[in-house]
Amino acid sequence: MQYPGRISSKLPQVGTTIFTEMSALAQQHGAVNLSQGFPDFEPDPALIEAVAKAMRDGHNQYAPMPGWMPLRERIADKMKLRYGVAYNPDTEITITAGATQALCTAIAATVREGDEVIVFTPAYDAYAPLIELFGGTPVYVKLNYPDYHIDWDQLQHMISHKTRMIVLNNPHNPTGAVLKAEDLDRLEKIVNNSNILLLADEVYEHITFDGISHQSLTSRPALAERTLAVYSFGKTFHVTGWKLGYVLAPENLMTEFRKVHQFNVFSVHRPQQVALAEYLDSDSKWDVGSMYQAKRDEFLELMKGSRFEALPTHGSYFVLMDYSAISDEHDVDFARRLTIEHGVASIPVSVFYNVPTHNKVLRFCFAKNSETLQAGSKILKAL
Ligand SMILES: Cc1ncc(COP(=O)(O)O)c(C=O)c1O
Repeated sequence: MQYPGRISSKLPQVGTTIFTEMSALAQQHGAVNLSQGFPDFEPDPALIEAVAKAMRDGHNQYAPMPGWMPLRERIADKMKLRYGVAYNPDTEITITAGATQALCTAIAATVREGDEVIVFTPAYDAYAPLIELFGGTPVYVKLNYPDYHIDWDQLQHMISHKTRMIVLNNPHNPTGAVLKAEDLDRLEKIVNNSNILLLADEVYEHITFDGISHQSLTSRPALAERTLAVYSFGKTFHVTGWKLGYVLAPENLMTEFRKVHQFNVFSVHRPQQVALAEYLDSDSKWDVGSMYQAKRDEFLELMKGSRFEALPTHGSYFVLMDYSAISDEHDVDFARRLTIEHGVASIPVSVFYNVPTHNKVLRFCFAKNSETLQAGSKILKAL
């Protein structure tokens, strides 16, 4: 069937994402799927039971618009304990349908026609289309290969009177780079005395390695006062399919966020919120970093002796691998061939750029059980 009228796309450049394509290819060819960022192991059974119990206990109607208060309180407790910052659960914390809705709502509430928004590339694929959807223009700043650090002088250079927002994803997808305290010092100086907002995508907050502590933008008052920070329960508790997250912001920003939130979703899945509030009975429940570090180490150990060269990863679900010793192919072609002919799916890193950038690196997700990592690495090592 076809709509008989004319429809001009609001996002003409957007097609099916590479994540969908690679996952479909992986399925079609029975490949080991190290592409999309989701765990292939189950969450804590206690969490599943808590959701079932919440449903049995009658938590089956709308949650309050900003979210289930006990869960907002658990988040406020964590922020106090870990970063020494006070977010008011009543006015400064909102539960969302995953980090994606938080990003969308934050941008919808703040970005206007003509605004510029700085995005570092390689970038998580949602930022640019969302900025464009609400009339903004993404302004791209490349992270410096191969350690993907931010060139703060270049950022300074890209800021104009139209700059409304800077998006900072830390720990970073796809590279596993993390911000250092010195980075936040530079950022503070750059945004000082400006009206620039910060959109902090900290969905991998709890997944940092080698004793590195997460440098949250919320931990610096001079940054927190202009920051909307988004998080994902899905990523932290291995329940990406739940699509549950939250956003933190100072009251005046949160007021604007909620004006949009109440009309694009109103409130989100109540049984999961009730369950998480009960489950988070001690701060240690958030500590998933060492489990993921063990997965990273296991994958890197399994890959020893392969012709792929792992780039350092300090956080997130991901490690980048340089394949220049194996092939000269474009990374998209190589990733497709790897899936179809050899049976391992990955994500080519060039798709995270707005301009052609071919560093011959693929992204592998190691948030997988041992059997998956063993099966994938066995194939990769043979190349
Ligand atoms: C950097 C980043 N931000 C946001 C998201 C989306 O998180 P959620 O599944 O909670 O919407 C992802 C998921 O892959 C991500 O990697």
